[in-house]
Amino acid sequence: MSALLVDNIGELVTNGVGEGPLGIRRKAAVLVEEGRVAWVGPAAYAPAADRRIDAGGAAVLPGFVDSHAHLVFAGDRAAEFAARMAGEPYTGGGIRTTVGATRAATDDELRAIVRRLRGEALRQGTTTIEIKSGYGLTVADEARSLRIAAEFTEDTTFLGAHVVPAEYADRPDDYVGLVCGPMLAAAAPHAKWIDVFCERGAFDVDHARAILACGQAAGLGVRLHANQLGPGPGVQLGVELDAASVDHCTHLSDADIDALAGTAHSDGSGTRTVATLLPGAEFSTRSPYPDARRLLDAGVTVALATDCNPGSSYTSSMPFCIALAVREMRMTPAEALWAATAGGAQALRRDDVGVLTPGARADLVVLAAPSYLHLAYRPGVPLIHQVIRNGVPQ
Ligand code: NIG
Ligand code: FE
Repeated sequence: MSALLVDNIGELVTNGVGEGPLGIRRKAAVLVEEGRVAWVGPAAYAPAADRRIDAGGAAVLPGFVDSHAHLVFAGDRAAEFAARMAGEPYTGGGIRTTVGATRAATDDELRAIVRRLRGEALRQGTTTIEIKSGYGLTVADEARSLRIAAEFTEDTTFLGAHVVPAEYADRPDDYVGLVCGPMLAAAAPHAKWIDVFCERGAFDVDHARAILACGQAAGLGVRLHANQLGPGPGVQLGVELDAASVDHCTHLSDADIDALAGTAHSDGSGTRTVATLLPGAEFSTRSPYPDARRLLDAGVTVALATDCNPGSSYTSSMPFCIALAVREMRMTPAEALWAATAGGAQALRRDDVGVLTPGARADLVVLAAPSYLHLAYRPGVPLIHQVIRNGVPQ
């Protein structure tokens, strides 16, 4: 059995046992066997191994868990971004532009785009990523989007209810029928999750409830886009349906926060429904950021994700999102890193990633920095020195 020792770690973030909420260990080493963390402890007591990576006293973290990304699309909406920066508002209407380009693309073109973005994310430290459909919006195009997504991740999400496509504009009820019927049947074999964009201009709460319930009945887990563009019932619908995560959460009432806090686990390990914040979207739409502090102070589990998509947030960079969360959303650097690793894992209801404890998947990021603090302290700087995924140096 070939063992790999990651040695001479100055600051190891485990999100497990150790100093503070990040479970930090100093002068540490990690032993990896068969793609898993086999041992974590002081470098001075490190067991022998066939191979050794010298971290040179730098910081080592769990790989980032990006629990919200829309990577299966074609086309470019840079002009829409430029128009927003010149004062146009974001409405979500541009989704239909991407739907047109995606339908016109071949499977290989879509596959190449996902591969490029997945590679980009990996080089920035993302070792687990969720990928949604949602730019096909026909039975065949949603099924193929998910088939392609499944070539790159286990966490695939059916988002047939992204917007009502143009050809159904005057009969949204018929489109909901299509999503719940033939589209779900074609999508479900390739999907783990179901998602709905529950927002004014997309799907109202009754349609969202109906679609999510059909997905649940087909064995999919629930997550949803909620309260992004304005206040609304999406977050409370997520709680009602035991969603793993409600995403965006930009406009929250006290009742929304109370509902999320009410899903707390009895052992104090956070909330069953996670609030996933996507600051890349507020950056790219020049919108007010969500107030993470309010959620954290109420005991709600917070995750950070990129929302990587061609319209509202065309970034694959978790370090960028961490920096935004610290600067703009009143998160401490420790809270932001936890949210981008263990928080993302909880948003995907996974306990094998987001932590570096024995038994976890050996997904490690070696920083070109002495501390995780540098992720927010040195924004925009390529600090990801080395990525190990599933025990394999990338
Ligand atoms: O998460 N909100 C809905 N979906 C994406 C935006 C998609 C787009 O504009 O293409 C989001 O922000
Ligand atoms: Fe999204």
